[in-house]
Amino acid sequence: KQRLTIAVLGLGTVGGGVPALLEKHREKISQVTGMEVVLAKALVKDKTEEKPVQLAKEFGFELTENFEDIINDKEIQIVAELIGGIEPARTFIKRSLESGKHVITANKDLIAQFGPELVQIAKQQKCDLYYEASVAGGIPILRTISNSLVADSIEKIYGIVNGTTNFMLTKMLLEKCSYEEALSEAQSLGFAESDPTNDVDGIDAAYKMVILTQFSFGMNISVEDIDKVGIRGLKAEDIEVAQQLGYVIKLLGSAEMTDGSVSAEVGPVLVPKYHPLASVQNEMNGVFVNSSGVGESMYYGPGAGEKPTATSVMSDLITIAKNIRMETTGHQFNLFNQETKLTPAES
Ligand code: HSE
Repeated sequence: KQRLTIAVLGLGTVGGGVPALLEKHREKISQVTGMEVVLAKALVKDKTEEKPVQLAKEFGFELTENFEDIINDKEIQIVAELIGGIEPARTFIKRSLESGKHVITANKDLIAQFGPELVQIAKQQKCDLYYEASVAGGIPILRTISNSLVADSIEKIYGIVNGTTNFMLTKMLLEKCSYEEALSEAQSLGFAESDPTNDVDGIDAAYKMVILTQFSFGMNISVEDIDKVGIRGLKAEDIEVAQQLGYVIKLLGSAEMTDGSVSAEVGPVLVPKYHPLASVQNEMNGVFVNSSGVGESMYYGPGAGEKPTATSVMSDLITIAKNIRMETTGHQFNLFNQETKLTPAES
């Protein structure tokens, strides 16, 4: 069978889950893609650290601290960027695409801010650039919008797209935890960003809404176009009062198209207890899509965590592998049209 060699950049929460999934599902992956997918190299900051050393030994790949080892390796056809943050991730992705390598990323900060630029390079290079894991970890929402809902018109997309704050709000409601206790538990479980400011201030959710807006409406909006309010300062008592009145407080992101203009926002919302989003608890995410054909649909699943996110990265890997085999790479699955003009929402 044809061999497909890949590299991962980063072996943290997401990257650390990839080697085991590749090994566990080797047979199925080979059947579905018609290729033997081999993880050859992983880029890490410190190759003497216990976790990378152990993973490399167990799954038989090489560790490197130097990106040049990956870029110069002609055998590597796919690079999975799982470092996060803007730099050096942006440069690594650009250089990978420029040298004809296909790219997978879970990096919503980067895609929300520099997605169009990277997609452009990918198109020029006839390379694939997939980022399913960047929004709602375990929910295949980007695929759903760009496959199942292509023959539909989305009017509104909204929901819970940040696992950390949903986990915190659930703890504060059910266990009467303080904000600080809930945050530190979310951090220790690996849901929160390395700097949880982005989670609690609604910025992480806003990045995801930028990407969902691109897919849903074919429009590029910037994170600055989104009104953002987070959950900082919310107290267990506020949640308790809402509960007594028949509501659950949820941090919701929403994007809506009205008369050719998109409005998007992120903020805490009083959700009636009978609404399905009220029962989306812990680190779970829930996304509602209102569209003219299907009507209303809801997608539910884990939004963070090693296995769900790594599984999502693997789904991109399988898609790209199939594209390579069918010689159909270079056609990005998103629809966003860079010539579409955004009419910012009136606030
Ligand atoms: N910090 C993010 C969240 C991780 O809590 O949703 C997944 O994007």
